[in-house]
Amino acid sequence: MSRERKGRLENKVAIVTGAGAGIGRATALAFAAEDAFVAVTDIDGTSGNGTVELIHAQGGKALFLEQDAGDEARWNEVVGHVVEMQGRLDVLVNNAGIQISLPLPETTLDDWRHVFRINSESVFLGTRTAIEAMKHQGSGSIINVSSTYAMVADHLNAAYCASKASVRHFTKAAALHCSHNRLGIRVNSVHPGVIDTPMLQREIAEVTHNRGLAASGAIRAEWDLLCPLGIGAAADIAHGIVYLAADESCYVTGSELVIDGGHLIR
Ligand SMILES: NC(=O)c1ccc[n+]([C@@H]2O[C@H](COP(=O)([O-])OP(=O)(O)OC[C@H]3O[C@@H](n4cnc5c(N)ncnc54)[C@H](O)[C@@H]3O)[C@@H](O)[C@H]2O)c1
Repeated sequence: MSRERKGRLENKVAIVTGAGAGIGRATALAFAAEDAFVAVTDIDGTSGNGTVELIHAQGGKALFLEQDAGDEARWNEVVGHVVEMQGRLDVLVNNAGIQISLPLPETTLDDWRHVFRINSESVFLGTRTAIEAMKHQGSGSIINVSSTYAMVADHLNAAYCASKASVRHFTKAAALHCSHNRLGIRVNSVHPGVIDTPMLQREIAEVTHNRGLAASGAIRAEWDLLCPLGIGAAADIAHGIVYLAADESCYVTGSELVIDGGHLIR
């Protein structure tokens, strides 16, 4: 990490949820590389601490806070702790998410509620809590990680698609709330396509198993074909999130940043 140039997120304090793996980890690393202080939160302490170790090894600033992003009371504690420690909160990335892939008739109400708790309710709770902290500063950026499945659907992911569509629209309502009340807070959504993370690797392994195949290569090739530019990397999404966190996106709110290797143009 260069210590000579100014980072794009210098003096910013950020929280990234689900930052122990995949897109969240890549985002936390990218934020730290741009000189932000990063509160890495995750339900899994081992992976979350692993992200903090990687940041420290690069000379960056971070701490880990264990958090179930769907837990309302914990949101107050996490944001309160960060503001008490750092004096402010500039950026929140609501990234934590889960996927339960099932045909619609096999999706139980408990499955549906579980997916909505982590993918949708957590975004509402995080956004509401962060706005309370940021409004006193008159500035802030909230970035909600949705999916291209908010725009196109999949027959094996009804609950997931619906939860991600709710994030897309909630983001616009939150952006309007902030602008209407002149809070100086921007709220945007990011829509990854098919990205190589533990989540995708689990899905590919599951489909491989369900089709009775010995190796996952053919299934991976199917996913690769979904996007004109093939499967993306977590860092590809992190680059877009850095842009929305940085002051250079000061005129961007309520927008949808699609980063999908062309998934949606098919
Ligand atoms: N990978 C993709 O292809 C893809 C595509 C579109 C959208 N997304 C979205 O991007 C986000 C990140 O996905 P990913 O692929 O990196 O996932 P991942 O499963 O690889 O990593 C998710 C992280 O979130 C954590 N997590 C899970 N439940 C949590 C909870 N209740 N509270 C806090 N942390 C929790 C996990 O421990 C893990 O560290 C998700 O919202 C996902 O829906 C991913």
